[in-house]
Order: sequence, then C-alpha cells, then structure tokens
Amino acid sequence: MGIFGLALLAAAAIARAAPNCPVVPRQASGTAAWDTAYASARAAVARLSQQDKINIVTGIGWERGPCVGNTAPVNSIGYPQLCLQDGPLGIRFATGTTAFTPGVQAASTWDVDLIRQRGEYLGAEARAVGVHVLLGPVAGALGKIPHGGRNWEGFGSDPYLAGICMAETIEAIQSQGVQACAKHYIVNEQEWMRETMSSNVDDRTMHEIYLWPFADAAHSNVASFMCSYNKINGTWACESDSVQNKLLKQELGFRGYIMSDWNAQHTTVGSANSGMDMTMPGTDFSGGNVLWGPQLNNAVNSGQVSRARLDDMATRILAAWYLVGQDKGYPQVNLRLNVQGNHKENVRAVARDGIVLLRNEGNILPLGRPSRIAVVGSGAVIGRHAQNGCQDKGCNDGALGMGWGSGSVNYPYFVAPYDAIRERASRDGTQVSLHSSDNTNGVQNVVQGADVAIVFITADSGEGYITVEGHPGDRNHLDPWHNGNQLVQAVAAANKNTIVVVHSTGPIILETILNTPGVRAVVWAGLPSQENGNAIVDILYGSTSPSGKLVYTIAKRPEDYGVSIVRGDDNFREGVFVDYRWFDQNNIEPRFEFGFGLSYTNFSYSGLSITSNARAGPATGPTIPGGPADLWETVATVTAQITNTGGVAGAEVAQLYLTLPPTAPPAGPRQLRGFTKLKLQPGQTGTATFKLRKRDLSYWDVGRQQWVVPSGRFTISVGASSRDIRLTGSIDV
Ligand SMILES: *[C@@H]1O[C@H](CO)[C@@H](O)[C@H](O)[C@H]1NC(C)=O
Ligand SMILES: *[C@@H]1O[C@H](CO)[C@@H](O)[C@H](O)[C@H]1NC(C)=O
Repeated sequence: MGIFGLALLAAAAIARAAPNCPVVPRQASGTAAWDTAYASARAAVARLSQQDKINIVTGIGWERGPCVGNTAPVNSIGYPQLCLQDGPLGIRFATGTTAFTPGVQAASTWDVDLIRQRGEYLGAEARAVGVHVLLGPVAGALGKIPHGGRNWEGFGSDPYLAGICMAETIEAIQSQGVQACAKHYIVNEQEWMRETMSSNVDDRTMHEIYLWPFADAAHSNVASFMCSYNKINGTWACESDSVQNKLLKQELGFRGYIMSDWNAQHTTVGSANSGMDMTMPGTDFSGGNVLWGPQLNNAVNSGQVSRARLDDMATRILAAWYLVGQDKGYPQVNLRLNVQGNHKENVRAVARDGIVLLRNEGNILPLGRPSRIAVVGSGAVIGRHAQNGCQDKGCNDGALGMGWGSGSVNYPYFVAPYDAIRERASRDGTQVSLHSSDNTNGVQNVVQGADVAIVFITADSGEGYITVEGHPGDRNHLDPWHNGNQLVQAVAAANKNTIVVVHSTGPIILETILNTPGVRAVVWAGLPSQENGNAIVDILYGSTSPSGKLVYTIAKRPEDYGVSIVRGDDNFREGVFVDYRWFDQNNIEPRFEFGFGLSYTNFSYSGLSITSNARAGPATGPTIPGGPADLWETVATVTAQITNTGGVAGAEVAQLYLTLPPTAPPAGPRQLRGFTKLKLQPGQTGTATFKLRKRDLSYWDVGRQQWVVPSGRFTISVGASSRDIRLTGSIDV
C-alpha cells in the first residue's frame, strides 16, 4: 500500500473516533483570571499536608508514569496525577496524534491566523489524550547561532516575531484547557556542553533580545515556564535567583510555576530558594539522585527552605491548573487515541505558506504541464526518518520533516515529495523519473531531456543527546548534507532547468548552488512535517503562490554571522546584534536577508499613514503578567496600502521596522516591530495596519532598570523584507 492509501485509512479512522473536546470558555485576560485561580489554589493548599505539597512539586521519577513527566495525585482536593508531555509540535510518543509543523515553519508563514489555529489544534489534541501540560512553545533557543541544534523548535531569530508567535500559540493552547510551557528559559542557544557552559549576557541584551519573547509568554498568562540546562553568568538557570525570582517572577509578574528541564536541577535548597517550583522528572535518567521529595521535606523541616516558599510552589502549580479549568472533567491519559480530526489541513497550510521562494529565474515556476519531470535526491523519498524508524528522528536518510530530539514526534503518515509530485503529474499525463539517492553516479541519465529537474537537498540538526552523521545536535557546518552541492552541480550540468528544493532546520550557505549555471529556481521549503510532499506540490504547481518569508538571515559565508558554537562559556559579545541586526549594523551584505521571500505575483506599497500619542519616558504602570501594564498599550498606529500588481492571487507579508532616535543606545539600523499578512487578488488593494505598543518604542535603560521611550525622531520603515523598504515616515516623541 502506498502512502496515499495509508493517509486515507487514517482519515477513515478519524471519522470513527471523533475526539471528545468539550468547549472551554476562553480565559479572561490579565490579572483577574489569575486572582480567581489563586483564590481556589490558596483554599486548596490550606487543606494540604506538607507531604501533599511535596508530592505536587516533585516528579515521581523518570519512566515511572505514562508521560515524560508525572506527579503524584492528591485525592483530597481532586488533584490528578499530572501528565506533562513533550512537545512543541505535537504529542511525543503518541500514536494517533498529528505531527504538526515545527515552530520555525509556523513563524515563516507570518500568518497569525494559521499560527493560532496550529496552537488550538495542538491544545485540542493534548486535551483529548489527557495531557495536562504540553511542553512548548519554544523561545529559547532564539537561534542566535545558525548552527544551533534546536533552533527549529522555536520561531526564528527575531524576538518580536518570536514573541507574537509565543503569545498566539500559548493563548490558543490554553483556550483548549491545556497548560502551555514557555521554554527553555533562558539563553540556551547551543547544544554543545549545554549542561555545563555558561551564557554570560549583559542586562540590556537580556531584556531587548532574549527575555522579550518570554515577556510575551508571561503576558499571555502562560501556565508554566521551564528553566534551561545552561548556566547564566555562572549559575545554573534552575538555580538562578536573577533569572527566576528577579526577572521572571518580580519584573515580569509571572504567576504560574517554573519546572526544571529534565534533570536540570542541581541542588535541593538552591533551586527552591531561587524560584524553581517543580522538579522534573523527579530523578535523574537512571531513576536516582532525588533532590526534592524527602530531601525537600528535610530542608523545609530544618528551615533551609521556608514553609511559605513550599506553599508558594504548590499554590502556583494549583493556580495554573485552575486557571485553565482542569479541575473539571479532564480526560484520562491515553496516548493511543486517534485525535487528529482535520488537523492535517493546518499542517499542510503551514507547511505550504511557510515555504520561501528564493530564486525564480524567467518564472520557471510555477510549473505548467511539463511532459517529463526528473526528481532527484534522498530528500524526495521516504526514508527511516519519515517511517518513524529512528528514535526521536535521529537520522537524516530520506525526506525531512522535522529535526531530531525530544521536540520530535511520530508521524501518523508522511507524504514524500516524489509520491505527491507523481500523483499531481499524473493529472497532466506528465512522466516522472526518479533518482532516489544523493549519489551523483547515474543521475545525469535520469535528468537529461526532462523539462525540469527538481533536486531535493537537506540539512538536519537536533538535540544533543543524539549524534547524527557526526553532527552532535548542533550542526558542524552550514553546507547541505550528503554532498548536496555536488548533487545539484551534477544535475544542472545535464539539465538547464534545475529547481533546488531545500528542507533544512536552519540556514545553509547557498553560494555554490546559486553560482551553478542551470539552477533556475531555489525553493526554501523548511520543515513541513507530515505534509511535506503536498506542500511542495502546492507551491511548485502554483495552486498557491509562495508567501513565506525568511525568519533568519541566509549569509554568503558562515563567518558573516559573527557567531558560531562556543567551546566553553559564551560571553555574548555580539550583544543585541543578533541575526539581521548584526548584518545591518556591520554593513555585511547577506545573500538573502531576514524577511525576504518572492511570490508568483508582485506587490506595491503606498499611502503610509501614522498616528501617534507616544510620550518619552519610562513605563511606570503597575506590574501585570508581562511587566508594567503601560508597556502593552498601543501608542501609535501605522497603516499602508498594499496592492497586488501581478497576474495571480497571492499574499504579502508587510513588515514594519523601527529605528530608535540616537538618544537610545545603538540597536542596529532597524528592528522588526510589526507585520501583517494580506491575501490579495490580482489588482486588489488591502490595508496593512501595524499597532505599536509602548514596549515597541522602548529600550531597556540599564541605569534606571526600566523600559524607556527615548525622545527624538523614530523612523518607521515599511517594506517587503528587512532590506526591501518601500515606505518611510517618522514619529517625533
Ligand atoms: C550577568 O552579568 C552581566 C554583567 O555583569 C549583568 O549585566 C547581567 O545583569 C547579569 N545577568 C543576570 C541575569 O544576572
Ligand atoms: C515583478 O516585477 C518585476 C519588476 O518589474 C519583474 O521583473 C517580475 O517579473 C515581476 N514578477 C512577477 C511574478 O510578476
């Protein structure tokens, strides 16, 4: 049976087993919902013994329950055995759930409706299989190092974009009654030595870059945070008073709880007093080294950890549980249920709309009705990766849909490019020939004479506990794997209509490919998960115009990034100049800049209009989740008219970049502070509206320890990428 048959069977099974998803009222925003949840939690905690509280904050141990994290139930208050399960793109170790697109693909769509729907479906599936806490979304790694193994789990290398994606995803997951978990907190930017290295970050960079998307998470009332494996300024994250108590709980007013990353706790007392609220999984991976449980009991009895601190831990955990309504009729854990419903439609839409068209010479795409297509590369066909044949996706020997590690899930089915192309081509009577390996031997015979040759190349990365083809989580280099450059050269030598499709966890250097005569198109297909083949067919044949934009910079040379994996402590010398900010600040020309992406149509920009009531000065409002309340107020509105001037329907991601006045410390020429995606018919004009909040106009003033709107002239740049600015204006503050 082919993959299409399997997909149909899965669809039939879905129709029989509709998930039981009771409608949960959308939570009220801000502090009122927390106040109510805290009242319930305090009343419950008052009825608990010390042992009950210890049970609530301590995992029962690795592999001792149905989920990757479990705590003991407290029957007297109806509190269940809590199930915490990976991860950011679906339910790990489940068999009937959807393999959603990775965060990076969702971000590449820049489409908040799709991102929110992805989150709702993630939440609905987690709820239906009884998962209380879904361990995602991810804003750390932010992806400052292009080689970073886990960058693909997050939402690209800009804090504003990541922050919007965090907020949309968290609110959507929690709207289904599931607790989300913002992770990995914080500055966990590489896999290499992640459990011993220290990220030494200055205060301003911490606030303006790395803490920024986590502030969005707190503002969205996220139930939980996960402290990361690394050290910050020499102190482990889960033992850090500065990042847990001061930054997160005091400054950001976070009212949920902080759990450890798995085995990231190092002491009994230090972690408790620095703000960690729950230890996971409760033991190390051999089932030993219990740091809380009886140890915490002793520490409380001896006064090293106060009873008030233990009460605070339990209260935070219970409040989060009440906040999302899990005290009423929550399903039992069953990771075997088929709960996919129609969710694959979101996977296909995100996979497709996250595809970025990088080159399209002579409009070779979309394909018309070719008489013969040659398909080349192991990335075009099912390998062990897509057949769930490698533990946690730790292999790269076929079509690629996601990276590897704890952030991966089983595919319920997988549509490979070759199968989807063949299916689509059969409608036109197009012949499709295949060279399914990355070996150049014999490839020229296959591609010669074909109207187009489509080469699939890949680059993979993942979590550091698995090494794949010598890559220890982080990538060793930024080249395509399996000699992808040579494969493309061999194909293009024999076929002057070569189309290169890249499936990759992050940037690769494309110079060799772009300089190869005959390479007419380059399609950056990212990580499309289970709908890999369908998404690429949608774009290749133009049933949808490409509308994704890069969420990281593609450089001409690896050195141009100015950063790489650090073999020791990382002093974050680049400061706030991460990704495009680095290239812009240092006048380094990228190959494809952040925010770039072509379409099958064109868009014109006109009619910039700006209204502002912004005032200079610090944010001084009362602290709500996310920081001072006034930081989140809209202080300026910018609109622009976008017109589809081409011949086909398409969607444009209009982006707003802000330049702060020189009275603020240097932050690079432009920072992303708004985006809108408009779907437009040929000739149609739409209005892009950007709302700027006070935080969007602020810098972190290290001396005052406040966010401050500087006085002077702010430049507003609206355009199609970070370097393709079409309209400019200004605000005087
Ligand atoms: C880390 O150290 C730097 C340099 O002293 C300081 O600016 C920053 O605030 C520290 N960060 C934390 C989280 O303590
Ligand atoms: C978009 O406009 C440019 C410049 O006018 C032109 O070269 C290109 O072919 C157009 N693309 C499409 C898809 O219409």
